[in-house]
Amino acid sequence: MNIIKLNAIDSTNSYIKKLVAKSTLESYTAVVAKEQTLGRGQVGTTWVSEVGKNLTFSVLINFENFKIHHQFYLSMAVSLGVFNAINKNVKIDMAIKWPNDILAGKDKIAGILIENIIRGVGIRQSVIGIGLNVNQQNFPKNIGAATSLKNIYGIDFDTDELLEKIIISIQHFVNYIENENFEALKKRYIALLYKYQKPSMFEEKSDKVFLGKIIDVDESGKLVIELENETIRKFSLKEIKFANR
Ligand code: BTN
Repeated sequence: MNIIKLNAIDSTNSYIKKLVAKSTLESYTAVVAKEQTLGRGQVGTTWVSEVGKNLTFSVLINFENFKIHHQFYLSMAVSLGVFNAINKNVKIDMAIKWPNDILAGKDKIAGILIENIIRGVGIRQSVIGIGLNVNQQNFPKNIGAATSLKNIYGIDFDTDELLEKIIISIQHFVNYIENENFEALKKRYIALLYKYQKPSMFEEKSDKVFLGKIIDVDESGKLVIELENETIRKFSLKEIKFANR
């Protein structure tokens, strides 16, 4: 396993993208940093993490034949990979919150940022960035409800060991994509999806709050919600969030 360890960097995703622009890296090369000075989150947010306590890393995957219209399957595979590596089946309920946050109860424990390098109609390379709260115990209020493995399991974790476990687990689920086993991947993802089929309050970009239930995630990764009047609507990440978070 090829793991590049850094003390500090702006963002491991940005670092790996610069590396692949000038050299060839084998699949599952990972870059991990004790500190990110400009950690990036989804939809232009930042990722904040206490220095040396957590995992902030990126993994590169080279693809031979991965169609752009299948890209959400990678999001499913990575969230399943992280979920399975950290879930020990204890009392706390873990779930995948669409599109790819990992929750313990209602608190976020990991976030994923995937950036694809595209050639023609195919994804040539993916940079998978993962922020996982491991040994940090207190979280600033302004980042929303968050927790860590230490908070839920009550023990310290060896971040190096955990990193290897997560990469192996991601590889296992990415193999589903390579074998075009898309249906099985989706089935496992849906089985862990937060609030699936449960009436929930959502908030649209326009600040409009409404009741609906998640009934599916379509191939492009849009969240499919059935409203009270049985109308079905689809939303992209920028268009919707849960109203209670
Ligand atoms: C999110 O939930 O908004 C996604 C967060 C992703 C954070 C990780 S930390 C390692 C990698 N490098 C970054 O700059 N971001 C990702």
